Amino acid sequence: MKLFLDTANLQEIREVASWGILDGVTTNPTLCSRENVPFEKLVKEICDLVSGPVSVECVSTRAEEIVPEARKLNGLAPNIAVKIPVNLEGLKATRVLSAEGIKVNMTLVFSPSQALLAAKAGAAFVSPFIGRLDDISHHGMELVEQILTIYENYSFETEVIVASVRHPGHVVEAALLGAHIATVPYSVMEKLAKHPLTDIGIDRFLQDWKKVAGK
Ligand code: E4P
Repeated sequence: MKLFLDTANLQEIREVASWGILDGVTTNPTLCSRENVPFEKLVKEICDLVSGPVSVECVSTRAEEIVPEARKLNGLAPNIAVKIPVNLEGLKATRVLSAEGIKVNMTLVFSPSQALLAAKAGAAFVSPFIGRLDDISHHGMELVEQILTIYENYSFETEVIVASVRHPGHVVEAALLGAHIATVPYSVMEKLAKHPLTDIGIDRFLQDWKKVAGK
């Protein structure tokens, strides 16, 4: 399973890259708005820090505008994946861009039918937002399961990025379902490694080791 970091913060990316488990980054306009760095400079710096795909979102809303915007974003670095919201305009643009070999991450996916169309349009990735579904009392992970089944039924190569992750349980459930990727905020990424019994165990071993060292 690949783990992406869901952030536009350079420090967070540097830190998680140093753990040796980082496979890519996803950004969105909200995440970019939190950083005090000009947009294109920010994107290039993120792409220098990670060798895997870096998703950067288009903000145009009509296919004829999304396509040139996506081409421009794609030209910023060799590891860009262009994020496009999944609606009819986004699908039209994705068909054109994927035929040119540009990697598209269809985002804001909330239904299996949207994911089916995204795969048919040639998207390299789809991003179901499971946390936002959970927030409105739906079961986000059911959507992931449905998408994975549909993709397996028809051997689609589109990879599923489990997005809008809120806690480590989401990552574990995604892994159990066989999702290709989870994109995880920094705070959750840290929690993935933590367990109170590990901390207690280390403390106890260090205390006992002092007795050994004192002999
Ligand atoms: C994914 O690509 C999005 O950037 C992200 O996961 C959205 O998460 P949110 O629902 O916490 O904003």
